[in-house]
Amino acid sequence: MSNPQRYLSGVQPSGLLHLGNYFGAIRQHILNQDNAFYFIANYHALTTLRDAVQLRQHTHDVAVTYLALGLDPARATFFRQSDVPEVTELTWLLLTVTGMGLLERAVSYKEKKERGIAATAGLFTYPVLMASDILIYDADVVPVGSDQVQHLEMTRDIAQTFNNTFEREVFKLPRYVLGTPVPVPGLDGQKMSKSYSNTIPIFEKGKALKSLVMSIKTDSTPLEEPKDPDNCNVFALYKLFASEQEIAQMRDNYGKSGYGYGHAKKALLELIDAHFSEAHKRREALEKDPDYVEDILREGGRRAREAARQVLERARQACGIS
Ligand code: TRP
Repeated sequence: MSNPQRYLSGVQPSGLLHLGNYFGAIRQHILNQDNAFYFIANYHALTTLRDAVQLRQHTHDVAVTYLALGLDPARATFFRQSDVPEVTELTWLLLTVTGMGLLERAVSYKEKKERGIAATAGLFTYPVLMASDILIYDADVVPVGSDQVQHLEMTRDIAQTFNNTFEREVFKLPRYVLGTPVPVPGLDGQKMSKSYSNTIPIFEKGKALKSLVMSIKTDSTPLEEPKDPDNCNVFALYKLFASEQEIAQMRDNYGKSGYGYGHAKKALLELIDAHFSEAHKRREALEKDPDYVEDILREGGRRAREAARQVLERARQACGIS
């Protein structure tokens, strides 16, 4: 079945993908992949990662993760951002109509600066590269996590300004859809995020996965007393993987004397294992065949480039470059 609307999204190769990424964005990408464009945003990653070996490794990891989770290159166009250099040219055209004030209001820039990330011009203009990523493929729908909403608003703003400035409908205005609206807590109960070092990587398994799950922070309610599922990180994660029935059962368990957090953690561990067991197998096979992964990315890049050239040409025409 083909998707009449073009879905597009990007994921930064800035570290191992974790359950927060999975429920916030990746799962939706896999569900909506017909006619979609998904790419690995390695130009964006350069704003925070400056190590060639790591960047290449993370890029490969993202590719393998998506393919293992069920991204089908026959249904979706899956590629590396940098295999479409047209996107950087369009970024320049967009920069010339983007107000400084718009970029100065960007929350993610301020947050990153506060975390100690170098305040480069690249970091500051990051949202314009992102707008270019979206507009250059005539995307209709952009599935993202809630931290990206402001960037989507900026994209619409920039597209509209460009269209108004040159008095032509060069760009389609995209809309966003959000992933799981409930937050995914990390090991310490804060939002799961690489920057808080509290993540559970998607492809963790065996002992390492077990020790992560066992380290999820819980309160000190004694074993004999009933526990409050709605204030529990283990339960919050459990709900993401469980069926309605399993959730109801677990709620019951929390009310029982003698059911402890250790039991709940074990149940959670089992659900995580079951949920990703097929993907683990596919991943192992993919890891043995890096050339296959590379071929998929190259072919995706070639298709994406064809689409990008047409939109870039519209933009060049509109502003008198070509
Ligand atoms: N900024 C996004 C993130 O950090 C990644 C990204 C880059 C993106 N370009 C995009 C997402 C285009 C959606 C559309 O998650």
